[in-house]
Amino acid sequence: MENQIVRSSCRRQRVVLFPLPFQGHINPMLQLANILYFNGFSITIIHTNFNSLYTSNYPHFTFRAVLDNDSKDNNLAKLSSKGIGDLLSGIMLLNQCSEESLRQELDQMLIDSKQQQEPIVCLITDALWYFTQSVADSLKLPRMVLRTSSLFCLNVYASIPVLEDQGYFNQANSVFDEENIDLGLKNIISPNNERDFKKPEGTELVFDLEERVPEIPVLKVKDISNMRIKGQTDPTAKLLAKMLKQTKASSGIIWNSFKELEEPEFQKICKDFPVPSFLIGPFHKYFPASLSSLLEPERSFMSWLDHQAPKSVLYISFGSAAQLEKQDFMEVVHGLAISKLPFLWVMRPAIVKGSEWIDLLPNWFLDLVGERGYIVKWAPQQEVLAHQATGAFWTHNGWNSTLESICEGVPMICSPFWGDQPLDARYVSDVLKVGVYLENGWGKEEIASAVRRVMVEEEREEFRERARCLKEKVNVSVMKGGSSYESLQSLVGYISLL
Ligand code: UDX
Repeated sequence: MENQIVRSSCRRQRVVLFPLPFQGHINPMLQLANILYFNGFSITIIHTNFNSLYTSNYPHFTFRAVLDNDSKDNNLAKLSSKGIGDLLSGIMLLNQCSEESLRQELDQMLIDSKQQQEPIVCLITDALWYFTQSVADSLKLPRMVLRTSSLFCLNVYASIPVLEDQGYFNQANSVFDEENIDLGLKNIISPNNERDFKKPEGTELVFDLEERVPEIPVLKVKDISNMRIKGQTDPTAKLLAKMLKQTKASSGIIWNSFKELEEPEFQKICKDFPVPSFLIGPFHKYFPASLSSLLEPERSFMSWLDHQAPKSVLYISFGSAAQLEKQDFMEVVHGLAISKLPFLWVMRPAIVKGSEWIDLLPNWFLDLVGERGYIVKWAPQQEVLAHQATGAFWTHNGWNSTLESICEGVPMICSPFWGDQPLDARYVSDVLKVGVYLENGWGKEEIASAVRRVMVEEEREEFRERARCLKEKVNVSVMKGGSSYESLQSLVGYISLL
């Protein structure tokens, strides 16, 4: 795209973008910023002090730290060590208390930009920064939303009230006490996968966790439990409701997805969300995620990877934030040992709860790593997935990782943790059919069996063929005349006329 500067010589409009300060949200926002820059807009990125960005890869952008930028009063940094629940509280807190300071900052930026004869035409913020809608409204500045996850996920979130009406969250309440949440899914499914749940009015409901949800047939009943929401009064559900409301109030939604991947979901979004939707992804087809990496990717393993047989290596990464329980971690270790295949495992520091890094690994496993594996703290993921030696990706199904795998035609083993991940995992395994969902937890035998299915047994050819077809569809969608390409042209025109 660097070679396709369409309007740069007449750069007269500025777009301000505001990512949520987490890797999986920063990457698509900065990729979008680059896409817009190379389509002629000037770019300002506003960001928090927490997870503040490395700006050196973006000398063509202006950066402004606007919120949470007092190191003594760094709300998110204080909360980040306490886990994802507290991070969600942190996001809510910032949404509640940041309106005035953002308004002042933006007001000043608007004045400056007019003086420089380069008006700010649009504010683009992460969907979870829902408070920015009223700030933008008060300044008469159009706000567009970047939704960093799938359309399917947003459709499911929009159905939470319907699902609650049908009693699905009562069963989630029954099975998801705090202890069960920590223990993980495998401990909440009874041997026959069946439980009785009662609606408050007394109507008796029986849910089979393996059954499909009639209202959203892609989902199984247990996927609703996996969302870890206890109904509309749950704090996460409240946050999602606010996000949905302000997304509907925005001037449009930009998606890191492409039409052919989620066609029926796109139809539903068009019906339920009364604002234009632009499906212009996958963004990393234009600019790699590594440009906005918060951690330095290692490259020492590349020569090892180069020497592995084609499609022989299992790549394992659970993204930027998920943490494993110790017992699950040990099942992974044993599962890899049983599967007898080469592997490249991204183990971020503190990926296992209560552990620094690889300190829990037994010596026999370290020997095994020496024989047929490699462990790194952070990898250039896109390059690994594109490498001829990579045969499958064991992923947590963060949406960026899911898209990156799809784009390289690499089948997946799906082990989601929270949020949109269980929904994306279901979509990958049951709709796209390019992955095996480890939906009953982390047992070593199940792990080894999933690895065999996608990498060794005959079935692997079916996974590969479907993954290859999807890869082709992506390539077509970003070419001239393709759905994403055309949607991007519409978006550029739309923003310039806002
Ligand atoms: C979070 C949520 O978990 C996810 O569900 C949501 O869709 C976005 O935010 P995260 O855990 O960061 O996502 O995962 P993901 O969305 O997959 O993003 C991770 C990014 O880090 C990817 O772009 C990936 O390429 C990159 N990455 C990961 C690396 O560059 N190197 C690595 O070693 C691992």
